Amino acid sequence: MKKDFLALTDLTNDELSALLERAVDLKADRDKTACPLTGKNIGLLFEKPSTRTRVSFEAGIYQLGGNTICMSRSELQLGRGETMADTAKTLSRYLNGIVIRTFGHSTLEQFSANSTIPVINGLSDIHHPCQALADLMTICEKKGGLKGLKVAFIGDGNNVCNSLIEAASMMEFNLAVACPEGFEPNPEVLENARSSAKSEIIVLRDPREAAGMADVVYTDVWVSMGQEEEAEAKKNKFQNYQINSRLLACSKKDVTVLHCLPAHRGEEITDEVMDGPHSAVFDQAENRLHTQKALLELLIK
Ligand code: CP
Ligand code: NVA
Repeated sequence: MKKDFLALTDLTNDELSALLERAVDLKADRDKTACPLTGKNIGLLFEKPSTRTRVSFEAGIYQLGGNTICMSRSELQLGRGETMADTAKTLSRYLNGIVIRTFGHSTLEQFSANSTIPVINGLSDIHHPCQALADLMTICEKKGGLKGLKVAFIGDGNNVCNSLIEAASMMEFNLAVACPEGFEPNPEVLENARSSAKSEIIVLRDPREAAGMADVVYTDVWVSMGQEEEAEAKKNKFQNYQINSRLLACSKKDVTVLHCLPAHRGEEITDEVMDGPHSAVFDQAENRLHTQKALLELLIK
């Protein structure tokens, strides 16, 4: 039976812990050649731009001995009206797995329902679970663990935030999200995460309260891909939600700053913070590679 990774909760807590441990080994042994994907073809279907997700998957799959086939909607018959269901049925006959970056999360679910190969969510409007894997690995590296930490997410309650909420629930760290009214995380994700969480997951308005004594402060862009039309109106509402040195002064002295990238420097994060001593954003970007290799080892049979 195939196993998908559409949301972080598609893994059990034990699988997630084991995956993070495996990623540490893969990072330590980065020059060691192991080729579990020899003879396997992995599709990468991107309906939105990507630097980290696309390149880390391509590089990782190559390092594991596999081959990638990159696709966009306009290059496929999808662009001429072939259904996602028929595309899924067809691609299942050629590929051993597929990574999809798309708009509506239901597109991934539809692909999954019609395919016989593992489907990995490379970002949808609701979830960005591959990002959460790298976030967890990076927090572990910097803080030595996850349980009991206080993480603050400052900004839009978007896909990255939703996956971080699931991560908090599964790995038992406390999460304070600070966002303007109307930009809260997905209510269903929040409710499910809270119902199984042993840690505290709260949504606040005040970024200073969220960042107060935080071990980790995390942000993402104010305007996600596909939201360009509402950009100006949205940016105005987020002016008080910038991660700058004043905000960081509320958090712990050894705070780690995360950003999934790409950053809009001068908007949600200042240059001073992004390039400063607390920033782990490029370690976080690197960890996409190691965690996704561990994910592929788990899913692609
Ligand atoms: N963080 C992330 O997913 O980056 P890309 O959009 O560059 O893939
Ligand atoms: N929330 C952002 C994340 C980009 C990696 C977006 O969806 O555009």
